Amino acid sequence: MRPSGAKPSHTQRGKGGAPLSTTVRIKVDRDRCQGHARCAALAPELFRLDELGNAHEIGDGTVPEALVDKAWLAKANCPELAIEVTET
Ligand code: F3S
Repeated sequence: MRPSGAKPSHTQRGKGGAPLSTTVRIKVDRDRCQGHARCAALAPELFRLDELGNAHEIGDGTVPEALVDKAWLAKANCPELAIEVTET
């Protein structure tokens, strides 16, 4: 497990050094989220707040490549550790 907030290298290399594409997804744990709203402030393209101020990921949580850094930043800044970022 990597340290909280550590950003991994996004581009992985396959055989022969060719880049392999990865899909990055975010998911908000609704049981942990306490509505601090840092995620939506840092990455409004990825998170929305509901009427109670709790966050949810936009769409199916797939993160466009240009927003991957913001996804990791939001994760690192959630005081409740409610944001999961996965790479597949
Ligand atoms: Fe909730 Fe963390 Fe965002 S507590 S509103 S997921 S900063």
